[in-house]
Amino acid sequence: MKLLLKDGNVINPLNKTINIQDILIVDGKVAAIGRELAASLDLDLSRSTSGTGFQPVVFNDEETIKDACPTISVINAKGKYVVPGLIDMHVHLREPGFEEKETIATGTQAAARGGFTGIVCMPNTEPPADNQAVISFIQQVAQKTGVVNVFPVGTITQGRAGKELSEMASLAAQGVVAFSDDGAPVVNAKLMRHAMEYAKMLDLPVISHCEEPALAAQGMMHEGFTSTMLGLKGIPAAAEEVMVARDIILANLTGCHLHIAHVSTAGSVELVRAAKEKGIKVTCEVTPHHFTLTDEAVSSYDPQTKVNPPLRSKADVVALQAGLKDGTIDVIATDHAPHTQEEKELEFELAPFGMVGLETAVGLVWTKLVIPGILTSCEAVAKMTVNPARILNLKKGLIEIGAEADITVIDPELTCVVKPEEFASKGRNTPFSGWSLKGLPVATIVGGEVKWIK
Ligand code: DOR
Repeated sequence: MKLLLKDGNVINPLNKTINIQDILIVDGKVAAIGRELAASLDLDLSRSTSGTGFQPVVFNDEETIKDACPTISVINAKGKYVVPGLIDMHVHLREPGFEEKETIATGTQAAARGGFTGIVCMPNTEPPADNQAVISFIQQVAQKTGVVNVFPVGTITQGRAGKELSEMASLAAQGVVAFSDDGAPVVNAKLMRHAMEYAKMLDLPVISHCEEPALAAQGMMHEGFTSTMLGLKGIPAAAEEVMVARDIILANLTGCHLHIAHVSTAGSVELVRAAKEKGIKVTCEVTPHHFTLTDEAVSSYDPQTKVNPPLRSKADVVALQAGLKDGTIDVIATDHAPHTQEEKELEFELAPFGMVGLETAVGLVWTKLVIPGILTSCEAVAKMTVNPARILNLKKGLIEIGAEADITVIDPELTCVVKPEEFASKGRNTPFSGWSLKGLPVATIVGGEVKWIK
């Protein structure tokens, strides 16, 4: 099995370089990178139309390559970015328990269409992923029905109930990549301290959903001018920030790697920035919806804009973009949270929190960050590849000789209108329906296999 990606603008997000290169994939691994790959191709030159003997293959000529090496597939990547396979470290796959919202099969298909070769799935399933059996189930179903790599997260507490710790060591032994009660905070600070102590021993990060429930209580959107106008109960920025501060203090105490999920406020960015300056082991992520939309989007009472943490103020969006630029925010992750149409058609107060994100993420990153010059293409790609891979200790995120060939091709010129009815995800709950996005994935290659191509 040979695959050649020809003439792409290959991004190395680590040293922030872009070079026009060819990439040769053999048996699922990256076999060669460069402009002179003919030697690595092991071509049968006697079949080549360009002649016999040691005459070099004209590498610009797709027909010549195919003729000389009939088993090869060639993707012409001219004018496109060829980047390490994108990793989304915050996805809700809903299986087991909520298969009407999403399954591992449909969620991974949505990931492939979104350009993601690897996704990290959150444990708020039913039953919750708080024991080896559930993790093993997810791994087996992903193996059978998944089209991209699936990395499960185990819960911090049993049943995500915030009362007793999960069997964290046995979850680690089963291969979880992190611990989180995502969807809910760990309210008890002592329990969180112990979770961090164990996580540090196990050399895994704790991903914290930062929300102080008494402050957030029954809130439905960001607390501010718009919530007052709309008469909807607000969730203050402080509900997130007091927990970010607490968890940073606990990370400092325990030495645990703390990763803050979906930061949404200027205050959270400032807390993380200060913690990083002090050398505390903290990283964080932002979602495309939080760096794109403000709470004004809720003005129509459209439940598609209901998400937790809520869409924040303009000043928060500006601070999130600044945090991305200066490196305070390490990762862009979607918090892909599919819900059924029936649930999202309920009135705003009753509809569940969450929006899908896998199939709009790259388009939003390019349209809202790269094209306006907030991030360079290398910076944006780093936040979706090598950075999440490092946080989770995954041997992924770079295109290197010998590495598994997880690769995404992005066309920076391609424009498309978001049509939720065409999503591979079962979830159609997006506030971006009808938006025109520029800069989109066009091919997703996992372990050398083309899992999706436009
Ligand atoms: O909006 C959200 N939806 N935020 C979360 O933290 C959880 C997620 C879900 O699981 O639906």
